[in-house]
Amino acid sequence: MGDSPSRSFRDSSPDAGASPHQDQSAAGSLHRRAVLGSALALSACGPGAKSQTVPADLPPLKAVAPFRIGTCVQALHLDDPSFVALARRQVNQLTPEWQMKMEYIVQPDGTFRFDAPDRIAAFAQANGMGLLGHTLVWYAQAPDAFARLDERRVSFEQAYRNYILAVAGRYAGRVVGWDVVNEAVAEDGNGWRDSLWSQRLGAFEHIALAYRFAREADPHAPLLLNDYNLEYIPRKRATFLKLAERLLASGAPLTGLGAQTHVAADITPGKIAEMIRDLASLGLPIHLSELDVSITRSENRLLSREDLRNRQARVYGEAAEAMMALPERQRFALTLWGLRDQDSWLHQENASDSPAPFDEQGRPKAGAAALVRTFRA
Ligand code: XIL
Repeated sequence: MGDSPSRSFRDSSPDAGASPHQDQSAAGSLHRRAVLGSALALSACGPGAKSQTVPADLPPLKAVAPFRIGTCVQALHLDDPSFVALARRQVNQLTPEWQMKMEYIVQPDGTFRFDAPDRIAAFAQANGMGLLGHTLVWYAQAPDAFARLDERRVSFEQAYRNYILAVAGRYAGRVVGWDVVNEAVAEDGNGWRDSLWSQRLGAFEHIALAYRFAREADPHAPLLLNDYNLEYIPRKRATFLKLAERLLASGAPLTGLGAQTHVAADITPGKIAEMIRDLASLGLPIHLSELDVSITRSENRLLSREDLRNRQARVYGEAAEAMMALPERQRFALTLWGLRDQDSWLHQENASDSPAPFDEQGRPKAGAAALVRTFRA
């Protein structure tokens, strides 16, 4: 890469060109819920409890929630009329599920493509929905184009800055927020993750820099720190909070916290509420950013599928209640990681999982009813 092509991470030109990209990758090395205590959940619904009936005329989530309700979305969903109708009815915020990540944007030669994220952004705008940028820096995605950067020709930090300026700059003024750094805390909560970014720029420094550059790109966007397993692993939550405090103390423009909340239906009641209360202690707005409630990841073998379905609804209710308990200024949004079961990444992983609040036909399940009931209470 001799003369720098202007449409690459060497250059923050906002109109970078496109190149072909294969279909959605599984994004490889994600570790999720690897070390969960398999605590037997307290018996919130007894064995044999009947599934709750879902009222046919359930009002839309966005109409009853006192904060934004979102879903993740892929560009291909926008070609599915039933998805589009459901999303328009239920939500007022969209998070690109993977097409605003490096895995999509950064091409092997270091150029960028923005066709899919542009399409999602345009759809959000045309439908009066907020757009949540996800995500600028993620340990799990370190494209070769970065890894092979030759320090003699272009500094790694310059390329990192150019990438953030190109992406956050392109959508500046059009997002309701950015997940600036995703999953910065180590799996067990013991320190921060090791990644290409931490190796080249420093464990704390690469995180602080990302916030600085995101602010440079977009002077007003809320800038969030997003992570997962914060409800399951208190130590991870403590490290996450310490990181947030350290960022704030260093002057980094961190303005919100995201808890992904990928949970299983057998999660101990109260865990999500406890997490949200803890996270709220810093006074920042809280985004419940990727909520889904897996049936098949449940580890409590004593529970029948029906028990798990009932618990799933209760967990959706608890998540909504925890958000409702926050002071108004701290309720950023609640985002569902998949509206319908078949849209969920968990369904791709295990076809018998049914983690979403809406079924294949887009009909509300008990989870959607629990959300509505809680928002209205
Ligand atoms: C997942 C998407 O759902 C998949 O489609 C993609 O291939 C990989 O990433 N934490 C995150 C999300 O922050 O971006 C992940 O989404 C799920 C875990």
